[in-house]
Amino acid sequence: MAVRSVSKLVEQGFEAVEKEILECKDCQLHETVTNKVISKGSRTPSVVFVGEAPGKNEDETGVPFCGRAGKNLDGMIEYMGLSGDEYAVINTIKCRPPKNRNPLKSEIKACKPFLEAQIQLLNPKVIILLGNTAEKAFCDGDKLEWGVPKAVDGKYTLLKIYHPAALIYQRSRIEEQNTLIDNNRHLWELE
Ligand code: URA
Repeated sequence: MAVRSVSKLVEQGFEAVEKEILECKDCQLHETVTNKVISKGSRTPSVVFVGEAPGKNEDETGVPFCGRAGKNLDGMIEYMGLSGDEYAVINTIKCRPPKNRNPLKSEIKACKPFLEAQIQLLNPKVIILLGNTAEKAFCDGDKLEWGVPKAVDGKYTLLKIYHPAALIYQRSRIEEQNTLIDNNRHLWELE
């Protein structure tokens, strides 16, 4: 597998990244995918949400977080007080794993240049990692505390909160999630 150059992707811009994702065969997931799922939202966001992987609805439509978990994400975004031009939503990997299994390490690695290029192009102040898979992609085995922000090289701040799908079956988590959000409002709210 050829190593993709993140700087070249960034130089070429959003459309080129999109085209390369659509043409990508760097891991086996391209064989079973219906639609690759690239991003939604602003191209100049202050906050980027990073999910895990597309599910069934996303695979069918090509739109991230358009199913049940997406409804919970919308609720979170509303609770955060973000307007449409202030955020974007992407995933750690762009293809649905069969039967929604967890992405393999090798799949996360193969998709990482696209994730990095998207982050550089979107250039957010805050990256919200929705659960453990997104954390894996960003932190190379290091663990973040839930809801404890970590500034990275003066570039952006990482914040790990619960994946919206985790709130579907554990409604009690919603209150916990809201507390994590309340504790961090200063990261995205203007003075
Ligand atoms: N779960 C994710 O992590 N991403 C989606 O796009 C949908 C569900």
